Amino acid sequence: MLLSVSAIDTYYGSSHILQEVSLEVSEGEIAALLGRNGVGKTTTLRSILGLSPPRRGSIRFAGEEIAGLPAYAVSRKGVAYVPDDYRIFPDLTTDENLEIARRLSPRMGIWNRERVLELFPKLSELSRSKGINLSGGEKKMLGIGRALMANPTLILLDEPSEGLAPLVVANLVEVLGQIHEQGVTILLADQNLKFCRKVCGRGYVLEKGAVRFGGGMEEIWGNEEIIRKYLVV
Ligand SMILES: Nc1ncnc2c1ncn2[C@@H]1O[C@H](COP(=O)(O)OP(=O)(O)O)[C@@H](O)[C@H]1O
Ligand SMILES: [Mg+2]
Repeated sequence: MLLSVSAIDTYYGSSHILQEVSLEVSEGEIAALLGRNGVGKTTTLRSILGLSPPRRGSIRFAGEEIAGLPAYAVSRKGVAYVPDDYRIFPDLTTDENLEIARRLSPRMGIWNRERVLELFPKLSELSRSKGINLSGGEKKMLGIGRALMANPTLILLDEPSEGLAPLVVANLVEVLGQIHEQGVTILLADQNLKFCRKVCGRGYVLEKGAVRFGGGMEEIWGNEEIIRKYLVV
């Protein structure tokens, strides 16, 4: 397993949010965290990265315990995080946003500016546009592009399809497929079951901070009870 999360409990102050969350992601797969708003998807990703460290439980990445490490140390080990609001620099251009991501990472690998722009032709047309002038979809693409510039082994991707027009979502499905082919492992959190079915092999369904179901996406897709109880229809 590339990532093994075992029974983590995460709190915000005294609010107990994650309740013994366990999940596994194997090398090269795209796995989904599913569930309605507020169930703990983002908190799970933040826990893995070390932004909201769990109080109990274990997180093993590439054979090493990473629970309790600060986020910069986890990212140096090859975990990249794309938050749901992408956090690109609004006053910097597309190129500058990509360049900063490269400089912040000590990791070498196949991803560089050319590769990333090949993946997102639209971004290459916008290489001199400031972040603030990009559309929501373009910002999401740039967020993913920045993550790739760090040459990560694992990308934690929060709400990639949220707020995107259907055509942009279709393009994103394509792009994630290409990233997958390059061997990058992805754990993504998304409410959109149809999107996840197209992109992911397996998924975990969360409710109230706990994993209620884990299995193949087709199994989830075919389970009316899970969909009715825990997912957005
Ligand atoms: N910074 C925070 N402080 C306190 N509670 C928070 C904070 N962020 C999220 N929460 C709460 O934690 C729960 C899980 O949130 P979150 O992980 O963002 O869910 P999701 O990503 O599935 O929508 C929610 O009840 C939310 O209100
Ligand atoms: Mg969220």
